[in-house]
Amino acid sequence: MNILVTGGLGFIGSHTVVELYESGHDVVIVDNLYNSKIEVLDKLEKLTGHKSKFYQIDCCDKEAMEVVFKENKIDAAIHFAGYKAVGESVQKPIEYYQNNIMSTLVLCDLLRQYNCKNLIFSSSATVYGNPKTVPICEDFPLGPTTNPYGTSKLMIEDMLRDLYVSDHEWNIVLLRYFNPIGAHVSGLLGEDPQGIPNNLVPYISKVATGELEKLGVFGDDYDTHDGTGVRDYIHVVDLAKGHVCALLKLQGDQGVSVYNLGTGVGYSVLDIVKAYEKANNIAVPYAIQPRRAGDIPTCYADPKKAREEIGWEAKKTLEEMCQDSYRFITMNK
Ligand code: UFG
Repeated sequence: MNILVTGGLGFIGSHTVVELYESGHDVVIVDNLYNSKIEVLDKLEKLTGHKSKFYQIDCCDKEAMEVVFKENKIDAAIHFAGYKAVGESVQKPIEYYQNNIMSTLVLCDLLRQYNCKNLIFSSSATVYGNPKTVPICEDFPLGPTTNPYGTSKLMIEDMLRDLYVSDHEWNIVLLRYFNPIGAHVSGLLGEDPQGIPNNLVPYISKVATGELEKLGVFGDDYDTHDGTGVRDYIHVVDLAKGHVCALLKLQGDQGVSVYNLGTGVGYSVLDIVKAYEKANNIAVPYAIQPRRAGDIPTCYADPKKAREEIGWEAKKTLEEMCQDSYRFITMNK
């Protein structure tokens, strides 16, 4: 298939491009470089041997996006592009709703116009809000979400469900990501946030390299095995492979499908610190701090549905996630 990948130079997008080529697909990348770097394009070529067709375009710009559809016969789209910082979304709700929702509307409008009603959407475990129990299954109640980022994901999910109701020619897959970490084993692709990282593993990586002094652990009084927050960390390459498996659901009349992409295992913040130290033989100093607003105690997936229906399962270990994260940061300082 010829796949349009929006946000294809970003963290998850770039790893997915590699997996798409490895599975024999063709790729057209759209990215406005808001939170990614143009160098990633060359790195993708180095890794895959394919020179991707690339458009530096904002997905909200319909005229520019239409050029992509005019110049390429697109079979399906994977929509990664979007703002994703939880804390920032609280400060900038207008920007988050505008960008995340508008880009999806523009894309869907064009997919409809060019009769390519096949879409995989990057959703998030955040749509479950604070779940009553874990592991989380796809049919758990959604919301209430705790920040505009999460709300934008849930609104888009609702929008896409409405789209299918209006026109059964659509095939839509909603992939709810848990906590992607790690990097490509080559050290060429990884997560490279601007400024001080918000997320745990990028922050740990900067402490490990000495760029930041110590990690703040947000709360040690949660109802978890060591009091720190528990999450389902998944290697970004496993996550990327999930998208290739999800393409299966775009063939025939499948409607809207929803899958959790997680490992099914929860690790605490301190488990991650210890694993990172051990995997890389390095110290990660930390200090306990107050809880971070909006955090939930525990969040991990039941990944059974993805295994049974699209044959996908996360394979990589926590040790690999920690080693690959550290390799990327040391190779790209
Ligand atoms: N944490 C710290 N110190 C830090 C950063 C994080 O202790 O400096 C803790 C958090 O309190 C939490 C855990 O590490 O317990 C994970 O935090 P992250 O910020 O890495 O990830 P979140 O689980 O908060 O959110 C991530 C993504 C969201 C996504 C969500 C889905 O950022 O986009 O996973 O579970 F929606």
